[in-house]
Amino acid sequence: MQTPWWKEAVVYQIYPRSFMDSNGDGIGDLNGITSKLDYLKELGIDVIWMSPVYQSPNDDNGYDISDYQAIMDEFGTMEDFDRLLSEAHKRGLRIVMDLVVNHTSDEHAWFVESRKGKEGPYADFYIWRDGKADGSEPNNWGSCFSGSAWQFDEGRGQYYLHLFSKKQPDLNWDNPKVRDKVFQMMAWWCDKGIDGFRMDVISMISKTANMPDGKANGGLYGDFGPYCVHGPNVHQYLREMNERVLSRYDLMTVGETSGVTPEQACLYAGTDTHELNMVFQFEHVDPKGKYGKWDDRKMPLVTLKKILSKWQEELYGKAWNSLFWDNHDQPRAVSRFGDDRPQYRVRSAKMLATCLHMMQGTPYIYQGEELGMTNYPFKSPDEFRDIESVHAYEEWCESGRVSHEEFWPCIAAISRDNARTPFQWDDSPNGGFTKGTPWILVNPNYREINAQAALKDPDSVFHYYQKLIALRKQYPVIVHGKYRLLLEDDPDLFVYTREFEGEKLLVVCSFTEEEREISLPEEFKEAQCLIGNYPDLGDEGKEKRLVRPYEAFVYFLRQ
Ligand code: GLC
Ligand code: CA
Repeated sequence: MQTPWWKEAVVYQIYPRSFMDSNGDGIGDLNGITSKLDYLKELGIDVIWMSPVYQSPNDDNGYDISDYQAIMDEFGTMEDFDRLLSEAHKRGLRIVMDLVVNHTSDEHAWFVESRKGKEGPYADFYIWRDGKADGSEPNNWGSCFSGSAWQFDEGRGQYYLHLFSKKQPDLNWDNPKVRDKVFQMMAWWCDKGIDGFRMDVISMISKTANMPDGKANGGLYGDFGPYCVHGPNVHQYLREMNERVLSRYDLMTVGETSGVTPEQACLYAGTDTHELNMVFQFEHVDPKGKYGKWDDRKMPLVTLKKILSKWQEELYGKAWNSLFWDNHDQPRAVSRFGDDRPQYRVRSAKMLATCLHMMQGTPYIYQGEELGMTNYPFKSPDEFRDIESVHAYEEWCESGRVSHEEFWPCIAAISRDNARTPFQWDDSPNGGFTKGTPWILVNPNYREINAQAALKDPDSVFHYYQKLIALRKQYPVIVHGKYRLLLEDDPDLFVYTREFEGEKLLVVCSFTEEEREISLPEEFKEAQCLIGNYPDLGDEGKEKRLVRPYEAFVYFLRQ
């Protein structure tokens, strides 16, 4: 059987608002992306996933869509989009669109109609409930962006459900007309020639009919999880989507499925379940500390290895992994999992890249990761632009529950705005991102960390990613090999092998600034080194090998 292209591909995620501004209004845009396609081609990626570019009032930076078939004014026009798509295709790059259909914006025409009353063609497009006898919310669920998940609408005299902000009402997928509309819209984009969809919180589209109070989970509200995540009809709806739309085109599909287990992933993205090609799981980036996700502690390496290895092993031959360290909702990889101090930043960024790109699955690079871009040194909550961070600070701190001193390091380390500061193109003002005033602060380290400097330096993180991507094209074992973890209890070293049709890899990654010694497995003593993040190979061939701070290397042998 021929390997589908998305299994061999490397995906690059663009957050359009922060990638490249072409007209000086301080906001990244489509023409900005088009102007940088050659840069992406040079990196060697195959697929671009763009965070939403549709018309949106921007309550959640485009994840609140008011028209699925129009482009956000700030990002350009549909002509700009068509040009971007054709310029990408000319270069052999594919474009995957973000599909946000768990909810729309409250400014979407469907919602504007729906809130008018209980009659009418759109009355049932959203999830409406009466309040309790005393007029309070139908239940105690909290939204992901703080506060209640219910909002009362005066016009309709009912509450609507919003698992995210109150400007993001949840669609009612049990209504077949909603599914018709969504599938028609998807087909319209496919007919334009796009190459796939990344499906936003797709595991939340089906809710239970009965909506009891949720368990209090540390915060002020109850947890909607058991009633809204991996709900009763989610697989039925995805199979229907597959049959009616996806299977008719040559697409790549990836579902955002927070809280998913490997078993569930095998349903969403099983080789023969006819739903999606792959899913994102979040166990390795999902801290559960005293303040929920706001937790600045590093996950112990042994735990990280256990999680990632479980996914490598349990999906093998049954479903396909998506590999990522960060995205537009997560802090920067090198700051979170590596070491962003100047003496270790480049080395540890390359180590993380090695660790991820040698695993089984499709790797995703988040914009700027290939430069080793770091978290932003946030000093105060008014620097945040992200609705989630702004509300979380209010709910935890301004309410007096936690002191600023206690909470600040947690939110500063985890805030989604860390990933959303502008891409650093060069050392000119604003990192070359805009000639105007950027919509969000630019990381002051742009003078050292930028694409122009990286392209000039043969030892840069950029060139290392380029090499990793090229290796994937050359060695089938990187795409297909069976994974095995070694040294599972070692607190500092992440060591694993891959094996496929007589080819074998040994991957060694150090997550510490200490020197460590390891004995290489016998068979790798004479093996060839494919890539490493130190200029020399260290004491190769010897029985014991010194592993230097944040060192990574990969050995290859053919039996
Ligand atoms: C997803 C997106 C995130 C967004 C949320 C609501 O988790 O990745 O950015 O805020 O869904 O659409
Ligand atoms: Ca612009």
